[in-house]
Amino acid sequence: MSNPVGDPKTPKTPETPETPETPKKLRRTDVFHPPSSIVDQANVKDYETLYARSIADREGFWAEEAQRLSWYEPWTKVLDASHRPFFKWFTGAKTNIVLNAIDRHLKTPNRNKLAIIWEGEPGDLRTFSYHALNREVSKVANVLKAMGARRGEIVTIYMPQIPELVISMLACAKIGAVHSVVYGGFSVEALADRIQDAKSRILLTADGGFRRGASTSLKEIANAAMARSPSIEVCITVRRTGTECFMESDRDFWWHDLMAMPIASPRCETEVMDAEDPLFILYTSGTTGKPKGLVHTHGGYSVYTATTHRMVFDIKPDDRWWCAADPGWITGHSYIAYGPLINGTTIMMYEGAPNHPYPNRWWQMIEKYGVNILYTSPTAIRGLMRFGNSWSAKHDLSCLRLLGSVGEPINPEAWRWYHEVIGQGRCPIMDTWWQTETGGFMISPLPIMPLRPGSAAKPFFSIEAAVVDDSGRDVAPGEEGKLVIKAPWPGMARTIHGDPDRYVETYWKDYGAQGWYKAGDSARIDEDGYFWIIGRIDDVIKVSGYRLGTAEIESALVSHPRVAEAAAIGLPHELKGNAIHTFVILRHGEEPSPELASVLKDHVSHEMGPIARPESLTFVDALPKTRSGKIMRRVLKARALGQDTGDLSTLEES
Ligand code: WTA
Repeated sequence: MSNPVGDPKTPKTPETPETPETPKKLRRTDVFHPPSSIVDQANVKDYETLYARSIADREGFWAEEAQRLSWYEPWTKVLDASHRPFFKWFTGAKTNIVLNAIDRHLKTPNRNKLAIIWEGEPGDLRTFSYHALNREVSKVANVLKAMGARRGEIVTIYMPQIPELVISMLACAKIGAVHSVVYGGFSVEALADRIQDAKSRILLTADGGFRRGASTSLKEIANAAMARSPSIEVCITVRRTGTECFMESDRDFWWHDLMAMPIASPRCETEVMDAEDPLFILYTSGTTGKPKGLVHTHGGYSVYTATTHRMVFDIKPDDRWWCAADPGWITGHSYIAYGPLINGTTIMMYEGAPNHPYPNRWWQMIEKYGVNILYTSPTAIRGLMRFGNSWSAKHDLSCLRLLGSVGEPINPEAWRWYHEVIGQGRCPIMDTWWQTETGGFMISPLPIMPLRPGSAAKPFFSIEAAVVDDSGRDVAPGEEGKLVIKAPWPGMARTIHGDPDRYVETYWKDYGAQGWYKAGDSARIDEDGYFWIIGRIDDVIKVSGYRLGTAEIESALVSHPRVAEAAAIGLPHELKGNAIHTFVILRHGEEPSPELASVLKDHVSHEMGPIARPESLTFVDALPKTRSGKIMRRVLKARALGQDTGDLSTLEES
């Protein structure tokens, strides 16, 4: 490597956050015991007994949970493992996730209960009872049908955090169409790739959304992505910001025009689906190539999201639940929309930034709407912690009962702030480890458990999690190893859309002989059986909890005409957990300069979205590669961190 032109704005040495402590023995002061007010009224009072039962009789455990839901027809088999690793759950059953998320509530007092409380960033408020939500979803379902949407067809949704996003997801599910939500912070390339892979005919979007007082221009991005995606025939746009946008006459429709037409009847039959029919595809970054579309189903996913939500967050009928994620990621799918709605919970949604107009925005909303449970990411917590304790002190947060964390390891300092300042020492924190692939929580405390800051505690019921070495042997307590799951669970993704071989290769090959699922994370288990997640062991970077692949960032960089080759790595960052650092070889005749570095960073941001904007960009003459030409990112990473680069016998700099 030579001729590095560092970015002037980027510090040379990355700041390192305090990483979770994983000593073999913890000091007593590091354990937090839940208050008796929570333990006494908990939905699950004895973890050990129920866990043992759920392992001894996995199918019995899940059959019992499934019986809490409504089905058009019952299953003939709880688990079909005849085509490993393509497991099936509740085979023979007929259902639709909307039957449980909406329809069944209409026959109970939940009908008039609030399903959604939504606040826009400018302060506008919209609420939907379950009855009203049903009408809205039915209207959209009828419009989709009028546009020719059919069972099994993949509809792409690209929206800001507005109620129409959740309504669109439910409307697709209701008619048996498969939704593919693309996070509203993604940009042209990311959206176009996902539309093309899904071959979507219909795109649901909005003119924009509000973020930090400004409006984003979603429709403009959608237009550019549609220009690259010939499959699109229909685009329906919600008017949110009122921004001027280009509408093509035979393709584009305004949402409000269609909803005012007679086709948009508020009555619509819910399609009867097989339990194993696909409900949605969600694209997520992997080690290589393009993002993969993980497929989740109506039956098993309904049971899994509802059960995990009810048990881990100890859901009570009057709870007001706020999962402050974006619906465009799995957290939003499972725990803004589906799990909570199936449990008949009132969900809170907020459109904008946590610190707009002031850093008390979240605390103000918690007080105003009486939120009982807040579930968010360590990045958000660290971001709000920066503003000190005075902003939350202005508000009465006594309504909070439980807190949650997801997406990346939470450093003990952020954990303690969240616990002491926001939870006022009273609210247990559920640090939930899971993935797009798992559909729902896999390792998490329950509110009755003693907590250790930085540990996701114990496996959920029926989940056989282990930390092993390459040969599959359990590592000793406190040692680092690979996280695997040894048996199937109902919420697991069934396959990768259009690429079942890649599904097997990515998750099931490394421990193929044993038939275990490889999570792609490293972890430790302490002497008391508490799990400590360390982080990804592949080329996935978790930036602010968002999951990005080095391959996608590199492909965005090389799509620039002045770039010949590129490599991306993740390095620790104080606020974001990890930040993206890139290395670029320019085309012959191009000169490195700080200006060009910033042009290239902007290019990544424009193509993929602002979350993918590299923190630093270094021009190099060569990249470390294996003899077969693969970039050795671990070498780049070790060099950047000033660590030993390890065995370099396969290295070739070219
Ligand atoms: C990471 C998000 C530590 C992990 C739901 C995993 C976590 C990846 C935690 C999945 C946690 C998620 N502690 N790390 N509590 N939760 N992760 O698919 O690396 O966006 O593999 O799903 O996030 O990210 P994904």
